[in-house]
Amino acid sequence: METRSISLESEQDIAVARSEVRAAAEAMGFRALDQTRLATVASELARNVVKYAGRGRLIMQPTEAAGGHRRGLRLIFEDSGPGITDVEAAMRDGFSTSRGLGKGLPGSKRLVDEFKIESAPGQGTRVTVVRWI
Ligand SMILES: Nc1ncnc2c1ncn2[C@@H]1O[C@H](COP(=O)(O)OP(=O)(O)O)[C@@H](O)[C@H]1O
Ligand SMILES: [Mg+2]
Repeated sequence: METRSISLESEQDIAVARSEVRAAAEAMGFRALDQTRLATVASELARNVVKYAGRGRLIMQPTEAAGGHRRGLRLIFEDSGPGITDVEAAMRDGFSTSRGLGKGLPGSKRLVDEFKIESAPGQGTRVTVVRWI
């Protein structure tokens, strides 16, 4: 699988991101439960991009651990939106500035092996996750 970029700006793009991530995970050999985990993460994080930044993109990247003994899928969600003032607060279960459930970020973190969020007010947001096979 090659690196792919999916633009995110509508409800439909969120659905596309979800199904493309599932298809990529399946093609790479992830088991069914992990395909669902990755699809859920894609849906939650793509939704955040559309909801809070208006637009952005998802980069899907097959990756290998150093030494090449395991393969995984890296997903990068990036936008140039308003950014997050308090990242630590945003990572807490139930924290939402939009009366949402506040589970998108913390829930996604629990579903992957690696989770990194880079964000600053006025600078946009980038969330990078990896799940290993
Ligand atoms: N891409 C983003 N740009 C700006 N703010 C974001 C972004 N993603 C998340 N946030 C902030 O982090 C909070 C928590 O996100 P999340 O856990 O997905 O919960 P919810 O979307 O239900 O509010 C959001 O309410 C929002 O304030
Ligand atoms: Mg959310």
